[in-house]
Amino acid sequence: MARLEAACQVEQCAGDGDAARRDLLARVAGKQALVSMVTDTIDRTVIEAGDALKIIANVAVGYNNIDVAAARGCGIIVTNTPDVLTDATADFTLALILAITRRLGEGERWLRGGTWPGWAFDQLLGMQLRGKQLGIVGYGRIGRAVAARAQAFGMTIAYTSRSDAGIPLDRLLATSDVVSLHVPLTPETRHLIGQPELARMKRSAYLINTTRGPVVDEAALAWALKNRLIAGAALDVYEREPEVHSDLLPLENVVLAPHLGSATTETRTAMADLAARNVIAVLAGEPPLTSVG
Ligand code: GLV
Repeated sequence: MARLEAACQVEQCAGDGDAARRDLLARVAGKQALVSMVTDTIDRTVIEAGDALKIIANVAVGYNNIDVAAARGCGIIVTNTPDVLTDATADFTLALILAITRRLGEGERWLRGGTWPGWAFDQLLGMQLRGKQLGIVGYGRIGRAVAARAQAFGMTIAYTSRSDAGIPLDRLLATSDVVSLHVPLTPETRHLIGQPELARMKRSAYLINTTRGPVVDEAALAWALKNRLIAGAALDVYEREPEVHSDLLPLENVVLAPHLGSATTETRTAMADLAARNVIAVLAGEPPLTSVG
């Protein structure tokens, strides 16, 4: 905010739900720049209401919340915040892999519920990572950063990628001990992991999702976890945030985090700073630092 306020006049949107939407539609008229969060739906209606917009600066690497084609059609630049959040998101992916494979959530619930019977030799046994295969679906910046960390834990890596390298998704699902999703949400990746894909995974395998909720069919995942088709899952994102599919909540074999992938002070500061610098550059008639596509 300080960086933006030093360079331009800034207004902040307010309210929740419908009120927030009405406020955004009213305020965007006549503004040259819009700074948006992943939770803001920047569709054609908002874009057309923004009759003076030059830039939409999303404070996230993913930009599925923005109708980029509509923006482009109106000559508006869309920017995101790549790179600065790669480490934080990859770190958090490892946190989720460790939490689910070492049954941290189950153990913590015992302690908080006062039901820990005390140490026992064969209690809450998890899965060791060394020698196991991590299947990375989407081998971009974050996928590669996750691979580097997992190799330090002794895991071998398999991956799918939009380019020719990597292995087919079917083979990755059938052979991996942990499957971690790092593709952006697009029409092609919506429900990429549904009932048939979960059925292809090893019964001993774990699914990790730190990208976008709709990449996984949440109802199918709950069914697969309940019926032990896979050993467990750890999720940071959901199909209808902040809602979580009610069938997931009672399950012990799932770790549920509230969309924390990039949530460190350092990273969120860097994301905000990059979005502000994109706005300032474009309003000064300069090229943006990180425009999308
Ligand atoms: C967060 O979800 C992001 O896409 O940066």
